[in-house]
Amino acid sequence: MRKIKPVDEWVTIRENIRLTPRLLKVSFDFPKLAKIARPGQFLQMAIEDARDPFLRRPFTVYRVKRNTIEILYEVVGKGSRLLSEKKKGERLKIMGPLGNTFTMSLKKRIHVAVGGGVGIAPFIFLGQRMPVHYFLMGARSKEGLLPNAEFRGLTGKKIFATEDGSCGMKGFVTAALEKVIREVGDAGKLYLFVCGPKKMLEAVMEMAERFGIEGEASMDERMACGIGACLGCMVKTRDGYKTSCKDGTVFNFKDLLVD
Ligand SMILES: Cc1cc2nc3c(=O)[nH]c(=O)nc-3n(C[C@H](O)[C@H](O)[C@H](O)COP(=O)(O)OP(=O)(O)OC[C@H]3O[C@@H](n4cnc5c(N)ncnc54)[C@H](O)[C@@H]3O)c2cc1C
Ligand code: FES
Repeated sequence: MRKIKPVDEWVTIRENIRLTPRLLKVSFDFPKLAKIARPGQFLQMAIEDARDPFLRRPFTVYRVKRNTIEILYEVVGKGSRLLSEKKKGERLKIMGPLGNTFTMSLKKRIHVAVGGGVGIAPFIFLGQRMPVHYFLMGARSKEGLLPNAEFRGLTGKKIFATEDGSCGMKGFVTAALEKVIREVGDAGKLYLFVCGPKKMLEAVMEMAERFGIEGEASMDERMACGIGACLGCMVKTRDGYKTSCKDGTVFNFKDLLVD
């Protein structure tokens, strides 16, 4: 992949809204980033705060609309809580795009995106740039699922799974993948794109191995620098340890060693 130099600028929030009790969406105009970002890439966001002015946090590019970038997020700690309190017109400092991208040059395959919770984020952007035939999304309950309206403009079939059965299939997202395998018949035709909690990645990769399905996973390890300098985000691969932020975040299943 051609290396693109990241840009780092202050941006102004256009909108910061709640989509469900769990999921929020923030958007801002950043023409330079909108032009060069590719699906799978992420950005480092500095969330301005008087006490802690440069708290950088990694977020995946969720959707690009002309000059506008959208980020899908959930509140898990201090940074994301501060972000959720930001209002239209307030500022964020954004550095990106960072990391590698999903493989976009696949031919004659059925592309299946598998997202756990906010792990669905990179696949909306992927669906904007190439056909995604199935979007599988898993969450604990319906509050963690992306509303249907967020899939507007995307033609892939959506299959939801919730652990409590409050929406879609009851169970894990692997149940949705099993359904697709049955529906398609020939598992070897599928190509998986996966992002989400580690346990979910492992379960999907185990299924992929069992059914002989190829694919790639976004390994969103905890990050500090986001640019390959601190070695704080290492991923175990067949070729030794690699940084998730610079060598990834996207790794082919074949290259990953899962403990
Ligand atoms: C490449 C990348 C892309 C990401 N994209 C998104 C996204 O699009 N939307 C989104 O909501 N989140 C995304 N995340 C996770 C997001 O960066 C964290 O939720 C955020 O940094 C938490 O910051 P905080 O200050 O709110 O919480 P903290 O106080 O830093 O942490 C709160 C809790 O979250 C856990 N946590 C933090 N980061 C991670 C992580 N990477 N993996 C697992 N657990 C973590 C911590 O262990 C802790 O339990 C991404 C992470 C990476 C590495
Ligand atoms: S976060 Fe520093 S090397 Fe990846």
